[in-house]
Formats: sequence, C-alpha cells, structure tokens
Amino acid sequence: MSTQKIARVDKLASHTIAIPQTDLRSALSEAEPLWRKNLERVLQRAQFILGEELAAFEAEFARATNAHFVIGVGSGTDAIEICLRERGIVSPDREVLTSPLTAPFTGLAVLSAGASVRFADIDPDTLLLDPASVAQRITNRTAAILPVHLYGQPCRLQEFRQFGITIIQDACQAHAAKYAGQPLTNYSDWVAYSFYPTKNLGSLGDGGAIATNDPSIAQRIRMLRDGGRCGSHVSTAAGINSRLDDLQCCFLRAFLPYLESWNERRRQLANYYDEILRDCPGIRLLTRSPESVNHLYVIRTERRDQLRQHLLDREIATGIHYPVPLHLQPAFAACAARKGEFPHAEQACAEIISLPLWPNMEPPLVERVAQAVRSFYR
Ligand SMILES: Cc1ncc(COP(=O)(O)O)c(C=O)c1O
Repeated sequence: MSTQKIARVDKLASHTIAIPQTDLRSALSEAEPLWRKNLERVLQRAQFILGEELAAFEAEFARATNAHFVIGVGSGTDAIEICLRERGIVSPDREVLTSPLTAPFTGLAVLSAGASVRFADIDPDTLLLDPASVAQRITNRTAAILPVHLYGQPCRLQEFRQFGITIIQDACQAHAAKYAGQPLTNYSDWVAYSFYPTKNLGSLGDGGAIATNDPSIAQRIRMLRDGGRCGSHVSTAAGINSRLDDLQCCFLRAFLPYLESWNERRRQLANYYDEILRDCPGIRLLTRSPESVNHLYVIRTERRDQLRQHLLDREIATGIHYPVPLHLQPAFAACAARKGEFPHAEQACAEIISLPLWPNMEPPLVERVAQAVRSFYR
C-alpha cells in the first residue's frame, strides 16, 4: 500500500494525511474487473429498481451470511425501521432497548418507526450492550431489544434470547459475523445490515439489507420496502420507499466474493495492533472475540484528544466512533435519561479512538501507527 499523501482537511486541524483512517480505493481497484462487467450488464439491461441484479445480490448475500432470505433496502437505518414496522412496533407506547454507544441512526430508526427509544448500559470491556443492564430495564412496555454488533463484534445473543422479547439485530458493522459458531439469523429473524461505503461490505452510496430465516417475514419485508405494495399500485400496509438500487448491486456483487478474505485480513491486522500495543502504558485494549469481523480497531485512553493530535502531527488520521452517547444527544431527549445514568457508555465515549484499518492496509503501516501511539506515552 502506498503512503502517498492525501490532501484532506481533518476536523482537528488542516493537515496532510499520510495514513487515512480508512481507504476505499484499494477495494475498488481489486474488484474492478468484476464491477465493470456488472455495470455493463445492468446498463444494457436498463432495469434499475427491483431488477435482476438486486435479486442476484440478495441470493448471494443470503448464501454468504447463511441466511435463508435477504431483502435489499435503501440503508441500514431503513433496515432497522422496516424490521420494527414488520413487528408492528410503531407507536410511542412500544419501547425499544438499545445501546447508547452506536451511530445515532440506530436510535433514529426507532423514532422513524414511531416507537420510543430506551437505553441500557454497555459492558466496559467489549463496549457492547450488556445483557445484565438490559435485564434491569425491561418493563411491560419493552417491545424489542436492539443489540448493536459494534465494531464487528457480535453481542451476547444467547443471553438476550432468554428474555423472550423480539430481538432486532443491528449488524450494520458486522457483515458475515457469527456468534458461537452460528449465523446471526439463528438468533433472531430480523438482522439489519448497512452497505454504507466504509463498511466491511460497502456500496458506492447508501444501501442496506435485512436477513431473516422466516419466509413470511421475508415476504412482508419485501412488501414494506416497496411502499406496502405487492407488485401493484395499491398499498396494503404503511410501508416506505426503500429499495436497494440495482446499480449499487453491481459493486456489492463485485465486492462480495472478497468479503471473507477482507475480513480475515482485518482480523490479522487487528491482532497485529494488539501485539504491539498490549503492554503499552496509558491505553486499554478492548476484549475482542475471535468471531469479530473487526470493522474498526478501537482503543481507549484517558488522554484521547492529545493522542489524536499527536497522531495527526505524524500525518495519521483517526476517528471517534462515537463521541456523544445517544441518551445525551438532543434528538433523544424524549428518552429522559440523565447524565451519569449509563456511566460505562459515557466514559467510553470520552476515551475511544479508532485507529486506521482497512483490508489492504500493509502491516508496516499498522506498525507505524502503533509505534506512533507508543511514542506518545514514552
Ligand atoms: C451501528 C450502525 N447502525 C446503523 C447504521 C446506519 O446505517 P446507514 O448509514 O446505512 O443508514 C450505521 C452506519 O452508519 C451503523 O454503524
């Protein structure tokens, strides 16, 4: 991988970046012959919505994730919303319990469906939604639990299942992840994916999908993503307009054959970071299961902003996923949670930093980043 400089304005300062936080160009060039062929075919066919390319991608992604059915939708946010609509969780008296440490879109999807968001705290070692905290917050209004497989690591699904409540999985960062050796659809029939460009499997714009093993759920989801219609101009239910474009499927179908090897490379690079950073004073590594698909490589440090600036001074870009817990964001004021209510999530948001990681990142670049982190604490 070249260390070619990319002119880029970072939020912290205007800097030249030698090592970006992620890099999509290598994936595009690796899969170029495939997506060019797909594009040509789709342009020839001139069928851009609910066409054959989408159907082919849905079947291929279902195979790749060991799901019986996959339905392509417009985004990961829409995928979550449509799952909730399919379950009829669409009124404010129906509450959905989720993690405060996630992209705002997880919670916004609940609000778009018309339901209410409630939060539970995270496990400070993995930063994943904690089943013990969820157990304390379940009430007779709780209609669903929405665990987020953050940074590519699946939540403790077996424990969530024991609550006997609908589980809608936010797998937007966890393409092809398994939990205890089983596909995610073995734990619940609503698994939401995002194909936002930086994801482990990303399109060149917005996109998403829902995976399920239940044929009647799959059929209702197909109807809901297309305005509640069944191939006619009559809407039989309050669906939305959220269909994955055939043009995006040209790229998704081209990238999909690489997903397994890209996930494997992410795993190796994350392990390499661990190896170099394990005994570094001042930072804390997350507990990662070998089943994580390592969407991001995240560490914790009390001096996060100083470390970010130190790395930026060395032309290394980093990210924060995510800086403000959802319960403290104005959009979620209705959840009426106070500051201090989810101390693990609040502390994590102040300490996390996402180091550069992408599948074709060369190990010497990982070493350079990790050594730059170490040099901060020397
Ligand atoms: C954990 C999580 N949930 C939901 C979403 C929303 O996905 P999208 O951007 O495709 O709507 C994202 C991505 O932004 C995400 O990372």
